[in-house]
Amino acid sequence: MAKKVTKAIFPVAGLGTRFLPATKSVPKEIMTLVDRPLIQYAIDEARAAGIKEFIFVTSRGKGALEDYFDHSPVLEQELRSKNKTDLLEILKNTNMDSGAIAYIRQHKALGLGHAVWCARRLIGNEPFAVILPDDVIAAEKPCLQQMVEAYNETGGNIVAAMEVAPERSSSYGMLDVEEDRGELVKIKGMVEKPKQEDSPSNLAVIGRYILSPNVLKNLNQLKSGSGGEIQLTDAIAAELTQNRDVFGYRFKGQRFDCGSKAGFLQATVSFGLARPELRDDLYAYLQEIMQVDKAAQ
Ligand code: G1P
Repeated sequence: MAKKVTKAIFPVAGLGTRFLPATKSVPKEIMTLVDRPLIQYAIDEARAAGIKEFIFVTSRGKGALEDYFDHSPVLEQELRSKNKTDLLEILKNTNMDSGAIAYIRQHKALGLGHAVWCARRLIGNEPFAVILPDDVIAAEKPCLQQMVEAYNETGGNIVAAMEVAPERSSSYGMLDVEEDRGELVKIKGMVEKPKQEDSPSNLAVIGRYILSPNVLKNLNQLKSGSGGEIQLTDAIAAELTQNRDVFGYRFKGQRFDCGSKAGFLQATVSFGLARPELRDDLYAYLQEIMQVDKAAQ
């Protein structure tokens, strides 16, 4: 049986320039969908999948992220004195057990592969997960949990996968399929952000990975790849040349690209509609503006 996955890396060092000016002083991962920061969705998903150690790869200016997962004695005391137990309960999800969370600095923006490599000493010789908080996935069973269950059967390396429009291939790691088994896809190659005409398929990597520690060794050897950055995709593809398995996993759920403004807005509407206390008002408002829009056309 495959070794248990208990550690996850969260690469959160990016500058978030697509969301300037907001990200001038607020880390992108603290931006909220309804009332929870992006990073909270990622942490909750990791917890549901059995992750016990949370490793953040950060950079300058990400202090708000560290504070977010810390106790807030003044705020907690205030809520306690006012008997606001419901709010205290909500805050509980933001607290981490002592020693369960670690922060590593990525000193230079050298790419996703480099960010993951920065955490190598904390991972050691164990399989590990990587979660990109920009990719928010709404699912009945959280995506990483689905993947851990698949991984317990297959071992090797598993990346979340989803079909994308051919013209979008230059925004993703793209998979070269050896055998399509439906949910699980055996991979024979991977390429980072190829041009549409060079893409081996329409199956893209989404930001959830379960990887063998060997991928970290591959990263030791890597030179910069696509966009001049050290690519995680290349280090996973190197597994194939060493005869180790890589699978794509077609997860069940809806993925939102919260690294883009349009995706972020879609996620906001969708997560708002999923909240019983917001649903009716939001739905009525959306219908109203759709009608006004139609009438104007
Ligand atoms: C990263 C990965 C890419 C993957 C994508 C998923 O790219 O490098 O392989 O398909 O995440 O969101 P980024 O979007 O960070 O440029």
